Amino acid sequence: MSRKIPGLTAIILAAGEGTRMKSDIPKVLHTLGGRTLLDWVLRTAQAAGAERRVVVLGYQGEAVAKTLPPGIKTVIQSRQLGSAHAVQTAKSALAKSSGEVLVLCGDAPLISSRTLRRLVREHRRLKARATVLTAKVKNPQGYGRIIREPECPARVARIVEEREASPQERQVREVNSGAYCFSLPLLWEVIARVDNRNRKGEHYLTDIVELMRRQGYPVAGVLASDAGEILGINRRQDLAQAAAVLNRRTLELHMDRGVSILDPDHTWIHPEVRVGRDTIICSGTHLTGHTIIGAHNIIGPGAHLDSTRTGPRVQIKLSVVEHSWIGDRVCIGPFSHLRPGTRVESDAKIGNFAEINRSRIKPGAKMGHVGYLGDCTVGRKANIGAGSITANYDGRQKHATRIGEQAFIGSGTVLVGPCEVGRKALTGAGAVLKAGTRIPPGTIAVGVPARIIKKR
Ligand code: UD1
Ligand code: CA
Repeated sequence: MSRKIPGLTAIILAAGEGTRMKSDIPKVLHTLGGRTLLDWVLRTAQAAGAERRVVVLGYQGEAVAKTLPPGIKTVIQSRQLGSAHAVQTAKSALAKSSGEVLVLCGDAPLISSRTLRRLVREHRRLKARATVLTAKVKNPQGYGRIIREPECPARVARIVEEREASPQERQVREVNSGAYCFSLPLLWEVIARVDNRNRKGEHYLTDIVELMRRQGYPVAGVLASDAGEILGINRRQDLAQAAAVLNRRTLELHMDRGVSILDPDHTWIHPEVRVGRDTIICSGTHLTGHTIIGAHNIIGPGAHLDSTRTGPRVQIKLSVVEHSWIGDRVCIGPFSHLRPGTRVESDAKIGNFAEINRSRIKPGAKMGHVGYLGDCTVGRKANIGAGSITANYDGRQKHATRIGEQAFIGSGTVLVGPCEVGRKALTGAGAVLKAGTRIPPGTIAVGVPARIIKKR
């Protein structure tokens, strides 16, 4: 899918502060579907076939640089003098290149690689020196307006920024996406002539269009087929809108593949998540990270699963499950919390108000009501009574607890780690097992501290 286009470079503009976000974090590090805006653009540039990716950093550049994957070149625009100036800053990183360059904004995360490939294809087919990706939108507010050449509508005459636009120009609903394809080295020649005589006092990249045209180089405009793609994030409202667009796309894909989503307006699924056929996702469910859901599950209402894997026919309601592994036919919830490193094997049942951390619950075991298990192994078909807990932390270290197959832990048992309850052993209600205790298989232990009273 990411077949390279020889000679194609992508410059990604990410130096701006993003003032309108009113944020302590640089705009391009805000996230959408679990990835930063910049990461979206970088991946798209790669998938579009760019051989090299150059990121223009500025505001909090070091923080942004730390998030970059290997193999990305960076340049620093120390003062943000405008988008044309930002592109010019990247010249040093690709001085001798010829061929084409894609210029992309770090704040437009939804543009697809397919659209960018089409942009490059059209740029070549039309033998243009600059090609602008445009879109027709319902509300053009905040975008540069595309003014086509009246005598040749395939060409763009100029782009006028909203602040500079006349009332008539503001009516134009075709807008600049902020993504362009330019031919090198002509770009460098023209960009040097962009001035900052405008209301914002910035060097606008958009001025290039008119400058090229005046020199007799035609500028093409390619219309995106889906206006939702070009959404630029300037304000929190835009971020919410982009999240909704992305989420809707993701949900549609799952529904196309046979997943029921009962309440799409209140279901959030990150793009990497996979869901098996005939699974039903109920209202208020969030599936994030690298979650993989099996077939015939019922997830939700009100479930948050983060980077968790479930087998077939699992049911999870009103619960949070993080970085865990859930076997076939397991039922969880309502109101339980499975923390990272937990493994609940087939046919086990976790009821309400259970917290389980770094533990393994073997097939058929049950923990019905209220309790905490940390660093614990629970054997097959063992039963954990209501209110039982592992005291796995002594203030310095964590200790393990082992509960054998078919053991029966009476209500309110405290298991101070390290300790062990043998196969088919039983603890009485309220028993406290001191650290180091081993209850032999098949015996009954009661009291505080627990002592063995007889065979079970
Ligand atoms: C820009 C376009 C506008 C287009 C819109 C699409 C210009 C002048 N205007 O407007 O026509 O419709 O994007 O979303 O380009 N940046 C730098 N250094 C700078 C200035 C900006 O790196 O000195 C980066 C920003 O971080 C951002 C991108 O360039 O990623 C665009 O800048 P922004 O200020 O968001 O421009 P818009 O007003 O959205
Ligand atoms: Ca923008």
